[in-house]
Amino acid sequence: MAATPLVQLAKHEDSRGRLVSVESLRDVPFAIARAYYILPAESAARGFHAHRTLEQLMICVSGSCRVILDDGETRSEWLLDRPDLGLMLEPMVWHEMHDLSEGSILLVLASARYDESDYIRDRGEFVREAAARAGR
Ligand code: TYD
Repeated sequence: MAATPLVQLAKHEDSRGRLVSVESLRDVPFAIARAYYILPAESAARGFHAHRTLEQLMICVSGSCRVILDDGETRSEWLLDRPDLGLMLEPMVWHEMHDLSEGSILLVLASARYDESDYIRDRGEFVREAAARAGR
């Protein structure tokens, strides 16, 4: 994992409110091919998977959530509670979203179109693949 997966996004604030922008290959290190957003049910945790090749940036545009990242060796926890803060989800990083506040909205920008074969949804399989890639 990179030293910090957090990305500070450009915000433009005036008397009319706030605007936050994200530019492909500038604010994120990949070309954006897809965007999706999650409107979670109260107290439901989501994620619990890793991707083999997909790069993503997650932004909690409204509300807050706690994200656990785990590369198979190191586990870290991040609080997303500002619309101008992004969290990079690198390939081969298991991620879990917890404590999504009521009415929260998670926007995710992704480097490729949806492809179920890129997912690793089984925790044991993830640990094995991560260890094999790292030569452990
Ligand atoms: P899933 O990845 O399981 O959600 P989460 O990461 O929050 O646990 O996706 C939920 C459903 O939505 C699943 O049936 C796949 C589908 N989906 C798409 O069709 N396109 C997409 O871009 C994404 C992210 C999911």
